Amino acid sequence: MTQNRRVLLASRPAGWVSEQNFRIEDAPLPQPAEGEVLVKNLWLSLDPYMRGRMSDAKSYVKGVELGEVMVGQTVGEVLESKNPQLKRGDKVLTQLGWQLYGAASDVVKVDEKRAPLSYYLGLLGMPGMTAYFGLKELGQPKAGETVVVSAASGAVGSVVGQLAKIAGCCAVGIAGGPAKCDYVKRELGFDACIDYKAGNLDEDLRAACPKGVDVYFDNVGGATLDTLLRRMNLFSRIVVCGLISEYNATEPYGLKNIRAMLVNRIRMQGMIVFDWKERYGEALQALAGDLSAGRLKYRESVVEGLDRAPQGLIALLKGQNFGKQLVKLA
Ligand SMILES: NC(=O)c1ccc[n+]([C@@H]2O[C@H](COP(=O)([O-])OP(=O)(O)OC[C@H]3O[C@@H](n4cnc5c(N)ncnc54)[C@H](OP(=O)(O)O)[C@@H]3O)[C@@H](O)[C@H]2O)c1
Repeated sequence: MTQNRRVLLASRPAGWVSEQNFRIEDAPLPQPAEGEVLVKNLWLSLDPYMRGRMSDAKSYVKGVELGEVMVGQTVGEVLESKNPQLKRGDKVLTQLGWQLYGAASDVVKVDEKRAPLSYYLGLLGMPGMTAYFGLKELGQPKAGETVVVSAASGAVGSVVGQLAKIAGCCAVGIAGGPAKCDYVKRELGFDACIDYKAGNLDEDLRAACPKGVDVYFDNVGGATLDTLLRRMNLFSRIVVCGLISEYNATEPYGLKNIRAMLVNRIRMQGMIVFDWKERYGEALQALAGDLSAGRLKYRESVVEGLDRAPQGLIALLKGQNFGKQLVKLA
């Protein structure tokens, strides 16, 4: 008989996440109620925000309780439908989390003819929407300006830089190591990419951005953000999208260069992608259009099997992924 298998939060990490924070168990197959569908999950998305949900600190969304299935988006196939809008065989985007099967009513049908199913968790999903709205609405880049983005080879950052190029800007990435930087420049077409691990971020930024920085799309926070503050132009914008360098830290970094915000009248704004929920359709159209026209490239980092999801998340949080981190479930 088919059984479900799921990954639960077993304990809350203090500092870095470890495999001991998770428990993996078999469970009976869920039964869909009226209005629900039974879904077999095919792909699970692993995302940096999951570190925050493992904690009980106050945030923009409630954390996962101990003993609950780890939160996460999946793409799956409808096996049984008690919802007149959906039929067996439909492919859907869900919030079913780290498990092989689930029953839900809040699923969104996706079109596998338009793009591979996994893309709805990355380029055409939440990370792509984050790049699209964060850059367009908060970064507000104008042709000829310089846009810098950190975690530039990743799910969000790779899209930000490519959209900046499409908008006629100079795109400069920041990434860890020569292989990622090479990919960002050669494959994604950024004008430059700085290896922050080489240890000369300030000087390298000066060289790569001779006219200063007009938009900094920040995915990492910490020392990188502090260094960028010194390179920002008058009336420039900083999009605070993520602080991954601080997610496993027990103390906040503490910025030193805040004075630059006053002197240069910098606008720095935090973003959460849900704030544009009503406009996801617009972003999907735009991103899918750029993808099919060959203007957007995209890369994935895949671990195989649900049981390896904890290792996949730990690798992502250590920056060992190279592209959008996914778990292939089936
Ligand atoms: N605000 C929102 O609504 C929203 C939505 C989605 C994502 N985000 C945020 O956007 C950022 C990027 O997310 P993503 O899904 O696109 O992930 P990702 O970039 O595909 O993967 C994370 C990357 O972060 C980089 N990184 C930088 N400093 C790091 C450090 N100290 N430790 C570990 N990794 C470090 C690593 O690349 P390098 O090797 O290049 O350092 C790593 O590959 C995250 O901060 C995430 O929380 C925010």
